[in-house]
Parts: sequence; C-alpha cells; structure tokens
Amino acid sequence: MSTIKLSNGLDIPVIGFGTWQLTENVETVIAEALKVGYRHIDTAAIYKNETEIGNALQHTDVDRSSIFLTSKVWNTDRGYDNTLAAFEKSLERLQTDYLDLYLIHWPANNKNHPDAKEINVATWRAMQTLYKSGKVKAIGLSNFLKHHVEDILETAEIKPMVNQLEFHPGYLQEDTVSFCKANNIVVQAWSPLGSGRLLDDSFLKEISARYNVSVATLCLQFALQEGLVVLPKSVNPKNIDSNLNFEKFKISDEDMRLIKGMSEKGFSGSHPDSLEF
Ligand code: A2P
Repeated sequence: MSTIKLSNGLDIPVIGFGTWQLTENVETVIAEALKVGYRHIDTAAIYKNETEIGNALQHTDVDRSSIFLTSKVWNTDRGYDNTLAAFEKSLERLQTDYLDLYLIHWPANNKNHPDAKEINVATWRAMQTLYKSGKVKAIGLSNFLKHHVEDILETAEIKPMVNQLEFHPGYLQEDTVSFCKANNIVVQAWSPLGSGRLLDDSFLKEISARYNVSVATLCLQFALQEGLVVLPKSVNPKNIDSNLNFEKFKISDEDMRLIKGMSEKGFSGSHPDSLEF
C-alpha cells in the first residue's frame, strides 16, 4: 500500500475508502474493502455509520494498528468543549481508543456566523488538545478554503496536517490546493470521481482510452499524480477492488494539462462559504 508522509511524519495510505452515504450493509462493504486491501477508511459523525464501521473493525482479523482511520467533527459540535465531547463519542461508536486522523468537517462561515473565525479557532484549539493527548495521531481540516485555513494558521500552535476538499477533473480548487501544498498540508480528494457525474464525460473517455483504463481509474490517477490522497466510494465489489488495485500507469504531462484545462464539471454544489450551516 503506497503512502505519503504528513508534516508530523505519520504515513497515510494514498488511497482511502470513502464512506459518505454508506448506510446499508456497512459491515459487509467494509469487510470487502479490507479484504481487497484498503487500509485507510474515511468516515464522519454525520455519516451515521461509525458504529457499523466499528463493528466491522471488531470482526476483521486485520490489526487495528495497520488501519488508518479518520473521522470528523460535525457542524453542530463546533467549539472547544463540544469538539472534545464529539471526539469521545466517535471513539465509542468506532470502538477504538484512538483515531489516526480527526478533521473539522466544515468551517463555520460568515454567512451564518458573524463570529465564524472565532468558532473555527476554538474548534481548532480542541483539535490541538486532542492531538497532544495522544488520542489522535494527526489533525486537520475539511472543506476549508484558503481564507479559512489562513484564519487557523494565524494562531495555530500545531498546524493542520490535512485538508480534505472536493477535487476531481472539472473542479480543482487550485487556490486552496496550492496554498495547502505550500504550507505542507496534504490535500485529500473527496468525490474524486465527481460522485459519478464525470464517468460518461466524452473528453475523459477519450483520454482514458489512451491508457486503456476506465474514466474512474483516470480520475484517481490524476489526483494521485497531483500529489493528493484519494477517497473513492463504492458499494460495488468490482469497483471497490479496481479503485485500489488498478495497474500502475502514468498520465502524460500533456494529458495532465488537458485534464486541468477542462471547464467546470461535476461540482457537488456544496460551497463552504454559502452553505447554510
Ligand atoms: P458504485 O457504488 O456503484 O460503485 P465518488 O467517490 O467520486 O463520490 O464517486 C462515487 C460514485 O461513483 C458511486 O456512485 C459509485 O457507484 C461510483 N463508482 C465508484 N467507483 C467506480 C468505478 N470504478 N467505476 C464506475 N463507477 C464507480
């Protein structure tokens, strides 16, 4: 399993198993993912599947120490005390005594919170406390745009190690991604396949045919070549397997350039500054 290092030296597998909207047959799907070799699972309190993922981790013979497990604090639990309490509840549901990575799921934004910056900073202080306690091996952000990350960096004692963003051909968030890279913050791609919205794109089909791979595989390799960690989701055993175990190949510089030049496509519609939470 290929890994990259976070700024604190922790190894993170570059392909993780995304679990958003995974609410049925969770144990079976996670068991399948572990069977084909995933050692990185991404969940969140709001996904409402932590208990079932915890059950799957109890029932597998894969050692907890070889699994990289991420969860996220939900928006209703922002702030110092609430975040500490939310973390403990996630641990309980996941039936583990530590997480590998804990993220702030979405920044508070100015549209809904006049004191958004203070809220985000207080939540980050709790993340630092958790990190220092040793209950989580790395801490980070999710859906934080450049200006939200800057707010955190202004006073952070411990810098975020990760920022998890929507990223796929047709939605590259270049400002935030390049800012994160410059600050040694690893970017994780959620919706790396555009949640299925890119799979029949004729331009991507044409490029993927040159490598004899599917559009899904092309999207994953594109993000990996950009230095990101990818979190594809699937409930289909064939796709679960192929999203991890595709044959190694390299997209040419010219094709990378063409993919980067695509106009916006596949955007989820979730913009951190305009969401109603
Ligand atoms: P399925 O569960 O039937 O595989 P994203 O990770 O970008 O959110 O995309 C998830 C969507 O993409 C799901 O609808 C999933 O459907 C589909 N998907 C995941 N992997 C593949 C693949 N290798 N080929 C085709 N579709 C895929």
